[in-house]
Amino acid sequence: MRNASAAGPARPGRREHWSSRLAFVLAATGSAVGLGNIWKFPYITGTNGGGWFVLIYLVAVLAVALPIMVAEILLGRAAQRSPVGAFRAYSRPGSPWLGVGWLGVAAGFVILSYYSVVAGWTLHYAWLSLRGFGGLEAGQIRETFAELYADPALNLFWHAVFMALTIGIVAAGVHRGVERATRILMPVLLGMLLVLLVRAAGGEGFGRALDFVFGLRAGQLTPAGVLEALGHSFFTLSLGMGAMLTYGSYLRARDDLVATSVAVAGLDTAVSLMACLVIFPIIFSAGLAPGVGPGLVFVSLPIAFGQMPGGAFWAALFFLLLAVAALTSTISLLEVVVSHLMDEYRMRRRRAALGAGLATLLLGVPSAMSGGSALFGAGFQRLTEPLFGAGQGKNWFDLLDYLASNWMLPLGGLGIALFVAWRVGGEAREQAFKAGSRFARLYWAWVALLRYVVPAGVGAVFLHAIGVL
Ligand code: PHE
Repeated sequence: MRNASAAGPARPGRREHWSSRLAFVLAATGSAVGLGNIWKFPYITGTNGGGWFVLIYLVAVLAVALPIMVAEILLGRAAQRSPVGAFRAYSRPGSPWLGVGWLGVAAGFVILSYYSVVAGWTLHYAWLSLRGFGGLEAGQIRETFAELYADPALNLFWHAVFMALTIGIVAAGVHRGVERATRILMPVLLGMLLVLLVRAAGGEGFGRALDFVFGLRAGQLTPAGVLEALGHSFFTLSLGMGAMLTYGSYLRARDDLVATSVAVAGLDTAVSLMACLVIFPIIFSAGLAPGVGPGLVFVSLPIAFGQMPGGAFWAALFFLLLAVAALTSTISLLEVVVSHLMDEYRMRRRRAALGAGLATLLLGVPSAMSGGSALFGAGFQRLTEPLFGAGQGKNWFDLLDYLASNWMLPLGGLGIALFVAWRVGGEAREQAFKAGSRFARLYWAWVALLRYVVPAGVGAVFLHAIGVL
């Protein structure tokens, strides 16, 4: 491959590998399916009015996200290295491209720090549901969320529990940790989701939910909605920060990359849509509004569960589902950092997992305290007003989410797309794409999407972020 430096697509040596293609698909789907699908997708579908938003999102996945996913996995598999090493393998020493790899590792660290706080909420809610949360009045449930949000100790506690689970699994290794955990957790997740879906399909409100999610109504589409759909396609498919790249680096050479990526993106999208069809019927039949924003799952849904026969049970099942989905994602976030420490500094896995995990735990402290401390909440918000405008400031948690989702992931995704499309030698790229693939014919379409469609799409997201579009 052109530019392969001395460090080269190096000695796979003792690098661990997935035991099968299915193991990879489960782990990658586990990374992709998370809070993004079950918490965020339904609420942004709600605030954007459904229908058209969902359609645009599907187009974004096919035209922008899927080509990037193929590029990420391809680069990881070819280099057999985590992000920084993978960029180094195909560029000159000291090349600025390495920055894209570093950005990815940093993004993994940043996202995990606040993602784990929200993941902690799901555990808290599962626990509350088991204790009969279902029986509370609407007002009490609103208060419960407000109290949780404003309670630093409780947030820290669940954040720490979630990080401990994540560290434990990642420390056990690719095979005995990540692979084994996702092999058990993913079927559990799909099973729970199907049970909830069957229940929803038999209840009232399902028809309205179907119409809300898939019905195209005129005048519904806004430019902001289009860009939100595009941005979300990165987050939900774990793209732009080397998670797929790192998982790809544990693949052996000859697997059908395109078929695998289509399977992962298809499963991820299916889960998002199913989550909508579980949540909206419950919301509609309780007479609640779909467009309430982030509180949809943590406030509206528990209120609706409270009005349902057997609601406590269904609520517990739902929040456990959410926790499992989040866990298979936090594993992949930590794995990026751990794999980086192992490849670049020859650190042993356990030590890397513990070190990186504890550092993330610390970085997450301000996020866990955003609702309850003046320092990281209201006070911090005021500090950021020069950036976002008066009254528009963000607390620590929102600021990290904004930076990661709106800047780091799209920038990383763009970097990976351009690198693979323009820098990695043509012949080698073509071979890697076609190896064992039933979709070899799509090679040029893929390159064209990476070269032209991806930059145009991501460019539009940036122009929107700085207020030009
Ligand atoms: N895809 C995950 C979700 O939808 C989040 C994630 C982003 C995980 C980036 C890994 C890397 O919840």
